[in-house]
Amino acid sequence: MRAQSLPTLSFPAQSLPAREARDQRPADGRHEDGVLAEGRPAAPARPEHRPATEAILLVGGKGTRLRPLTVHTPKPMVPAAGVPFLTHQLARARAAGIRHIVMATSYLAEVFEPYFGDGSALGLHLEYVTETDPLGTGGAIRNVAHRLYSAPGDPVLVFNGDILTGLDIRALVATHGRTGADVSLHLTRVLDPRAYGLVPTDPTGRVTAFLEKPQTPEEIVTDQINAGAYVFTRSVIDTIPGGRPVSVERETFPDLLAAGAHLQGMVDSTYWLDLGTPQAFVRGSADLVLGRAPSPAVPGRCGEYLVLDGAAVAEDAKLSGGSAVSAGARVGSGARVEGSAVLAGAEVEPGAVVKNSLVGVGARIGARTVLDGVVVGDGAVVGPDNELTAGARVWCGARIESGAIRFSSDR
Ligand code: GDD
Ligand code: MG
Repeated sequence: MRAQSLPTLSFPAQSLPAREARDQRPADGRHEDGVLAEGRPAAPARPEHRPATEAILLVGGKGTRLRPLTVHTPKPMVPAAGVPFLTHQLARARAAGIRHIVMATSYLAEVFEPYFGDGSALGLHLEYVTETDPLGTGGAIRNVAHRLYSAPGDPVLVFNGDILTGLDIRALVATHGRTGADVSLHLTRVLDPRAYGLVPTDPTGRVTAFLEKPQTPEEIVTDQINAGAYVFTRSVIDTIPGGRPVSVERETFPDLLAAGAHLQGMVDSTYWLDLGTPQAFVRGSADLVLGRAPSPAVPGRCGEYLVLDGAAVAEDAKLSGGSAVSAGARVGSGARVEGSAVLAGAEVEPGAVVKNSLVGVGARIGARTVLDGVVVGDGAVVGPDNELTAGARVWCGARIESGAIRFSSDR
């Protein structure tokens, strides 16, 4: 299955909630001071539970830890399994019944809309709201609230834009409805929680604290972390202060808890990965290709490798471990590509070995060069007979001479 064609993701068109519904909702900012000044927000009585049909996607981060991959491309648009990562999240949301998604953009905001347009190719209605200055995660949520159709008591999903997960989205919404929470959070367990938001819960799953990026050993009170997917009761979004940066993790959640709001956690052990670092991104792409991470948007059948239309792979090259080779890329004779992503127009020359690495758009990896755990930025050239290992980041457009860098003494 070498030549793959990009499937058109078409889903039956669904009618969106009528504009009138949106026009009838209360004016923005009506609960502006509710949570922070007066304690618990004056949330309206919850109407009969309805499934969430809309979501906010947070895609405005700078993706600093992923550089140089994010120098020219915002993190959600870096290809994973041959398509911009965001495609997988959008397709999963659509499969869970979501129809309307508002994208909160900031860094390199201009690239999203030309690619995804109005979302109809994915069976979605997409809207874009750009922050000129980044408003943080909570500020971004508040800033797009005027585009939501939901009534005050309706559930609205919010997703971090860099999470690859098998989360049962409907189950999270159902948990929210069943418990009557103000906000429900997807939680997952990790071995080392320090890079995340820690979320201890009581035996019923009710959140007791929210500790973002704990600094001291005493703060590590649980291995349950915020997995980056929430259901907000719509009226709670309106209580986030507008017009200034707000961190949902450092400000909104702790303040809601202090005010006595009900935050509910739903722990599950499904596939989960934050693609915020190069190694995680490469792993996520490979897991999508291998079928370990579920997505309706993988452009081909899952297996050891994925070669997109317009790529050229030599007959005796060996692709494995969930490698993806994008359109216009070339893999030369005798080369080995293992658990890696070779982006559009890149070239892996004969005899090179590319393992657990990402080769950026139009980059070139010289003959017999060995990469293991490396990110090569767009347009960079790594000459022949180099050896780069774990953690190396070759900047966009850089040039490494032939035989210049080795991690072993043999030649
Ligand atoms: N629109 C907008 N504006 N989006 C933003 C902004 C902003 O100012 N800042 C961050 N984002 C988006 C990012 O693009 C990303 O999709 C999401 O918000 C989370 O930001 P990250 O920078 O990836 O945060 P993190 O990985 O360090 O931590 C977050 O995710 C963890 C799970 O992976 C937190 O939510 C943690 O609590 C959580 O455990
Ligand atoms: Mg992240």
